[in-house]
Amino acid sequence: MHAQPGVEVCPDAPEQSDGTRNQRHLPASTFRSRRSTLSDAQRRTWDRRWPELGLSLGASASEGAEPPLDTRAWFGRQAPLVLEIGCGSGTSTLAMATEEPEVDVLAVEIYKRGLAQLLCAIDREGVGNIRLIRGNALDVLQRLIVPGSLTGVRVFFPDPWPKARHHKRRFLQTGTVGLIADRLLPGGVLHVATDHPGYAEHIGALGDAEPRLRRPGPGDALPISVVRPTTKYESKAHEAGSAVTEFIWLRHE
Ligand SMILES: C[S@@+](CC[C@H](N)C(=O)[O-])C[C@H]1O[C@@H](n2cnc3c(N)ncnc32)[C@H](O)[C@@H]1O
Repeated sequence: MHAQPGVEVCPDAPEQSDGTRNQRHLPASTFRSRRSTLSDAQRRTWDRRWPELGLSLGASASEGAEPPLDTRAWFGRQAPLVLEIGCGSGTSTLAMATEEPEVDVLAVEIYKRGLAQLLCAIDREGVGNIRLIRGNALDVLQRLIVPGSLTGVRVFFPDPWPKARHHKRRFLQTGTVGLIADRLLPGGVLHVATDHPGYAEHIGALGDAEPRLRRPGPGDALPISVVRPTTKYESKAHEAGSAVTEFIWLRHE
C-alpha cells in the first residue's frame, strides 16, 4: 500500500474483462472539478494523517500497475468492508462508521476539501474504521477492489447531471451497477439514495435489471446498517421540495 498525496486522477478507465467491458455503459466523466483549497488547520491534519489513512489513486492505477488493495493490512484487521462512493465531506461516512465500529469503511471522493473535512473529523473524534481514497470511484472499483469482497456499497446523492446531454456522465449506469454487483459478496448490499426523480427512475430500472441483484424481502437480514443521517445536501433537497428515493439491493447468494 502506498499513498501519493496530490497525484491527479484519470477519469477515463480502460475496459475490463469482468462483464463491464462495454464502455458505452460506463460514465464518460462523472465529476466536475471543484476548488480544493484547504485551510491551514486542514492542511496540517492532511499532512499528518493522510499518509496513514489516505490513498491517492494516481496514473499507475489507471494503467493497471496498482495491486488490489490489501484492506486487511490497511485496517489492521479482517472485517466486513463497505465502499462509499462520492462521500462529499463525509457526514454520512462518519456517522455510519461510528454506529458500526465492527465494519470497515472505504470512502472514495475526488474532492480534496471534502476528504480533508472528513479526515479532520476522524482525527478529532478518534474514529478508527474509515480509510479515504482520493480518486475516481470507477478506477477504485476496477483496479483496487477484488470481485466478491465488499459487504456493502453506498452511493448517496450521486451527481444527477440533469441535462439529457450530460446523462452519460452519471456515475450509475449499466456498467457501473454491474461492476458493483461483481465486487459485492453474495448477500452484500447496494444502498443508493437520490433526490432527483429522473435519476431515481433510471437507478431503479438499472438495479432491477442487473441479474446479480435483487430487492430484499421481508425475511432478509441485512449485513450492514442502512440507517443514514440527514446531510446538509439532503436538507437542501428537502427545502427545495424534492423527495428522496432510497434503494436497497442484495447481491444474490
Ligand atoms: C452531490 S455530492 C453528494 C455527497 C455526499 N454523498 C452527500 O450525500 O452529501 C456527489 C459527490 O460525488 C463525488 N463524485 C462524483 N463522481 C465521482 C467519482 N467518479 N468518483 C468519486 N467521487 C465522485 C463528487 O465530487 C461529489 O462530492
